[in-house]
Amino acid sequence: MSFKIAVLAGDGIGPEVMAEALRVLAVVARKFSLQFDFTERLVGGAAIDAHGHALPEVTLDACRAADAILFGSVGGPKWESLPPNQQPERAALLPLRKHFSLFANLRPAVCLAELTHASPVKEELIAGGFDVLCVRELTGGLYFGQPKGRHEDNGEIVVIDTMVYRLSEIQRIAHVAFKAAQGRKKKLTSIDKANVLENGVLWRQTVTEIGREYPDVQLSHLYVDNAAMQLIKNPRGFDVLLAENLFGDILSDEMAMIAGSLGMLPSASLGVRETPYGRFGMYEPSGGTAPDIAGKGIANPIAQILSAAMMLRYSFSRAAAADAIEDAVRSVIRKGLRTGDIHTAGATRVNTREMADAIVEEIG
Ligand code: IPM
Ligand code: MG
Repeated sequence: MSFKIAVLAGDGIGPEVMAEALRVLAVVARKFSLQFDFTERLVGGAAIDAHGHALPEVTLDACRAADAILFGSVGGPKWESLPPNQQPERAALLPLRKHFSLFANLRPAVCLAELTHASPVKEELIAGGFDVLCVRELTGGLYFGQPKGRHEDNGEIVVIDTMVYRLSEIQRIAHVAFKAAQGRKKKLTSIDKANVLENGVLWRQTVTEIGREYPDVQLSHLYVDNAAMQLIKNPRGFDVLLAENLFGDILSDEMAMIAGSLGMLPSASLGVRETPYGRFGMYEPSGGTAPDIAGKGIANPIAQILSAAMMLRYSFSRAAAADAIEDAVRSVIRKGLRTGDIHTAGATRVNTREMADAIVEEIG
């Protein structure tokens, strides 16, 4: 049996960190007797340059044929002057999410005890580190709601984005969040704007109702503006956060910043399609293409490597192999290895390849 993976490295640091994640997967394959079948395709700016489109049909075909997509990152200064709907982020990432109904976005914001110095938050507020899981709805709300567009009214430009949620969309993401909480500290904070939006009212009502099916999970609700404050004041007080698409976009970035380095954080976007071994999903680092350091071989490969671990866990149900990668990452951090983004005096500074070498060695 072999796991089929569409590998879309993308732009900027994407190809550099992807190469290291593939090396880690090769070691895991050997150790756990797994077989991976990789199909590498262009996406984002690289695909615009080669094919004239950020998500060409050849790339989409490889994704359709795969059990999971391992994604790098897309975008960069070279393509920023294109019309907004042709830019890599909007023309590749959003269509991939919609096409494969990747509605459940899991964004762990983990700050290891050894890395609290890299956070902009006062160390006393995060001593010992923290571990928050953001569950973001990814295919609804303002991103995709209709009507959407720009027109003229009385000689003036008017723009419209519409926030739309169907009951079933709220229900399915709520189940994902409650189940995730059951496997953790059993605390779920649901985010909404029920004091202003119809969306928020239905969101709160639905999450509350579904919560009755999970009596072991302690549920609370926060308005999104208040949540933004509470998260920075006491990140350790949270376990699982549940939010609709745009609120989740914003709060997951806030949590990533509080956690210290984007270079450490993976993500999973899970779809509705079952594969023979788990659920179809797309796995990508939370950080972007980092054009300022692209090509220098100094980017932190950990987010990409941990994304591969999430893929093993959720799409292939290979928890032991995923654990091995996550343990190896914790272990090299404990040993003091640091790429530039998380470096402090006294630690051992390493580049992309050296960090991955150490992780590979640790897995053994
Ligand atoms: C993210 C990004 C995307 C989003 C952009 C690049 C379209 O910010 O994955 O969080 O807004 O969802
Ligand atoms: Mg974002």
